[in-house]
Amino acid sequence: MRQLPAISALLVSLLATSPLNGRSEPEDSSKPGPDPLTGLVMAQGWELVRTHCFACHSLKIVTQAGKDRSNWAKTLQKMQQSEGLYPLGEVESDILDYLEKNYPVSDRPHNPKIRRPIY
Ligand code: HEC
Repeated sequence: MRQLPAISALLVSLLATSPLNGRSEPEDSSKPGPDPLTGLVMAQGWELVRTHCFACHSLKIVTQAGKDRSNWAKTLQKMQQSEGLYPLGEVESDILDYLEKNYPVSDRPHNPKIRRPIY
């Protein structure tokens, strides 16, 4: 039990520096930072994704993904055909613009504990 204070101090310092505490500043102040609630990059159109995609699941499912436009379009179709998302009408292309621009295909190493997106 004598290690407890040391371990607590370590945990506190890890938490303080972790990006999970939501308080991390964007590295490049000219780029928009993430929204603390959803984690979405606050670039043009982000509120549309918050409005239309946040009702059913965490938006980590979006921020951890990376797809080209046609695969984002397939994801939206899947949300509509099998998950119950309503037709998005004219905002659909704005949502795709946002997703394509901010969450493109990336070669970031994939976390093996999280399954890969279907598309
Ligand atoms: C009506 C509920 C609902 C709404 C609204 C919704 N989703 Fe989903 N979504 C789901 C469910 C349920 C799953 C889990 C099914 C799965 O993973 O196959 C899911 C899974 C996902 C996934 C992971 C699976 C994959 O194919 O990559 C992504 C990405 C995603 N949604 C994006 C979106 C986006 C973007 C929007 C907004 C345009 C959205 N969702 C709106 C219900 C919804």
